[in-house]
Amino acid sequence: MASQEELNKMIKVASDAKSKAYCPYSHFRVGAALLCEDGTIFSGCNVENGSYGLTICAERTAYTKAVSEGHTKYKAIVVTTDVEDRFITPCGACRQFGIEFGNFEVYCVKPDQKTIHKTSTNELLPGGFGPSDLEAPRSSQ
Ligand code: THU
Repeated sequence: MASQEELNKMIKVASDAKSKAYCPYSHFRVGAALLCEDGTIFSGCNVENGSYGLTICAERTAYTKAVSEGHTKYKAIVVTTDVEDRFITPCGACRQFGIEFGNFEVYCVKPDQKTIHKTSTNELLPGGFGPSDLEAPRSSQ
């Protein structure tokens, strides 16, 4: 569980990351901050591409940065956008990416950096397919 101090830091990191968003096509800026078990925080922004389907979301940028630096245990992720009238939650691909690393907190934060919706990876993708499913006994029929 993220402490209040850690959450404040993550919100700042995610908001700063949002300013780095590369989104010349959608103009929809997203920033993320991923808190690892050891307290390390990785930032992420969305990175779009002229071949639209290759776009990488802010959350997955943060996950891949963390994993590639040897961090696979997480306490929480913060996601923030420029949308004021509702909470923006992670897309389906990012929900799937998240549950790969277990159940942890997800904070969706409005641009004021104060209005927060707290959820979790499991809540966002109930009944999802995860690593343990690959361990299940399988028939050769
Ligand atoms: N986007 C994210 O970065 N995270 C999400 O969870 C939802 C969508 C980005 C992808 C694309 O660059 C833009 O938002 C519009 O879909």
